Amino acid sequence: MQAIDQLKTPQTEAQRQAEVLAYTRRVLDLIAKTDIDPDEAAWVTAETVNGFRDHVNPGFLEYRKATSLERAAAVVEWSDAGPNAYRDVTGKEYIDCLGGFGIYNVGHRHPKVVKAVTDQLKRQALHSQDLLDPLRAMLAKTLAMLTPGNLAYAFFCNSGTEAIEAAVKLARAFDPAKQTIIGATKGFHGKSMGALSVSAKAEFRRPFGPMLPNIEHVPFNDLPALRWRMQTLRAVGEDCGAVILEPVQGEGGVNIPDDDYLPGVRALCDEFGALLILDEVQTGMGRTGKMFCCEHWGVAPDIMCLAKAFGGGVMPAGAVVGTKAVFSRLFGNPFLHTTTFGGNPLACAAALATINVLLEERLPERAARLGQRMLAGLREAVRGYEHIVTDVRGKGMLMALEFPNDHLGFEVSKAMLDRGVLVSGTLVNARVIRVEPPLTLTDEQADDVCRALADSLAEVASKIS
Ligand SMILES: Cc1ncc(COP(=O)(O)O)c(C=O)c1O
Repeated sequence: MQAIDQLKTPQTEAQRQAEVLAYTRRVLDLIAKTDIDPDEAAWVTAETVNGFRDHVNPGFLEYRKATSLERAAAVVEWSDAGPNAYRDVTGKEYIDCLGGFGIYNVGHRHPKVVKAVTDQLKRQALHSQDLLDPLRAMLAKTLAMLTPGNLAYAFFCNSGTEAIEAAVKLARAFDPAKQTIIGATKGFHGKSMGALSVSAKAEFRRPFGPMLPNIEHVPFNDLPALRWRMQTLRAVGEDCGAVILEPVQGEGGVNIPDDDYLPGVRALCDEFGALLILDEVQTGMGRTGKMFCCEHWGVAPDIMCLAKAFGGGVMPAGAVVGTKAVFSRLFGNPFLHTTTFGGNPLACAAALATINVLLEERLPERAARLGQRMLAGLREAVRGYEHIVTDVRGKGMLMALEFPNDHLGFEVSKAMLDRGVLVSGTLVNARVIRVEPPLTLTDEQADDVCRALADSLAEVASKIS
């Protein structure tokens, strides 16, 4: 290992630059390779682990099951292994039951998405930001056609957090007399100051000082609590301008609301004149068995946020889609909210191809069918281990296993990794682990996952008995 102070020993500018040139040359040679030999794999592993420790954040090595130092050699990722799996630097494959936290709905590197992006790249990579870019208009029109209700206009960005940030700003601009936004406990919407303010996880909020003002939280799936809060806010003259929710909470533990919840929230928003913002960053693009999760309950929001799988697992891409009334606040000055890279031609090409693939391959329907099959398989696998897994739940291909504590969840996810299945906790907590594979997962792979769970539970049970 090269210590930091060694790295920073006084050098001439020319020496520093020569070193950087040599290092980047070596890395570029590596990037160009499809496969690597064991010596190269060892170098990649050492550079990765040391780089995380010395230059990214050593905390990642502490918590990631993949990167305890002894295990590191086996779990530094190198490539995709078909549409539904990863390969590590040693060549071992892992079925992807995490899907980059919901990125890979159409599978890894779907050929149609890759083709659209590379075709666009050959012609033009990014946009002028002055001339009108055609794909932005065509993607916005596509979303207007695809999304429910009166959603008609789109703003494009690069991530879910940015989509939420834009949604919060749109809501605030909509009615200056109604500046309060209500979110839900266990909600997660991202980590910029605006997105964090509407999120609910204390651990992520506490270190960062006062959040945005006029943000309230009520328990998820609790209509009386929402009504009470809206009434109270009205009574004190701080009227609710918007309610923001995930239709099914992802990071909060795959929490599926009662069937009357979302329609009830829509009705309350209408009664109190508040906008409904639905965060479909994780639940959208077919994940739960409908193109958008809110369609399970026939609810249309005023603002919908998309990201993650929106870029087809190839490009970072996000969008906030809203009604004409909502977006009209920006018509007078479209520069009120902009971003350099949002809606770039590569991202738009990826999103257009993704939507095409989801429809053509009927992936939302597949998610509904395969999700049911997998849920039954997972439930079967945990039979006899109810002391380890206390609940198995899911909607479409967004599924979760709940454990009595963080430790057991972590042990089971480690055991599954050893069996070639990648699952993950809900952010830093493994008490609930997510099973969120690409919607293209084969039936056989789904069965392999259930088998791996049964074997992992047997192993963990034998250790704790
Ligand atoms: C529901 C939801 N909203 C927003 C975000 C933030 O998205 P991003 O990480 O792309 O900024 C996430 C990320 O996990 C999410 O699950």
